[in-house]
Amino acid sequence: MRMLNIALAKGRLSDLSIDIFENAGIDTTELRNPGRKLILEEPKSDIRFFLVKPGDVPTYVEYGAADMGIVGKDTLLEEGRNLYEVLDLGFGKCQMAVAGPPEMKDRLNRFDRLRIGTKYPETARKYFEGVKGMQIEVIKLNGSVELDPLVGLSEVIVDIVESGKTLRENGLVVLEKIADISARLIVNRVSMKMKNEKISKLIADIKRQL
Ligand code: PRP
Repeated sequence: MRMLNIALAKGRLSDLSIDIFENAGIDTTELRNPGRKLILEEPKSDIRFFLVKPGDVPTYVEYGAADMGIVGKDTLLEEGRNLYEVLDLGFGKCQMAVAGPPEMKDRLNRFDRLRIGTKYPETARKYFEGVKGMQIEVIKLNGSVELDPLVGLSEVIVDIVESGKTLRENGLVVLEKIADISARLIVNRVSMKMKNEKISKLIADIKRQL
């Protein structure tokens, strides 16, 4: 049978994702020290790992370039891709939240056109326009969004909060929780049928660890 291609998010989730495969009996020595390599082959298990930016994992899996992947639920909510989300892996836990200065607590729902700084524009729109029925302006940024309310770029932010340290150290608080986030195992819809035996076995080996 053809080899299995797995997309992994570089960064925060990377080490814990590798642990999952190691505990499933896969040799991860190369994967732990990839250098600049983007494809790591594990011939014994007939698996190839791709190391990609977190936001791109669902894209590789939806198009079938990767059969499976591990990615944060925050990315899945934002990307809204057509794929199977098969397991909540229970690590990388955090919240998607609206945050801002404490005085925004009473004022949040009173803005005519609230400005929101975020790396997650779709998630912010779905929540404020879809769920709350508010008019907003989304200001898309690539990081350090906690800065926005402090310098007047936006009134609030939509971002992930893990320990809460970044908010605290910048005088901000969680105003509303949007969703619970954690790492998820995702599978391409066609691969699930075409490589079912291999994928099902790997899912079972991972499930046993949870
Ligand atoms: C994330 C997030 C917050 C921070 C939350 O940023 O955007 O800034 O972590 O974590 P905490 O609650 O434990 O402080 P990341 O570290 O990914 O960097 P970025 O701002 O460059 O995206």
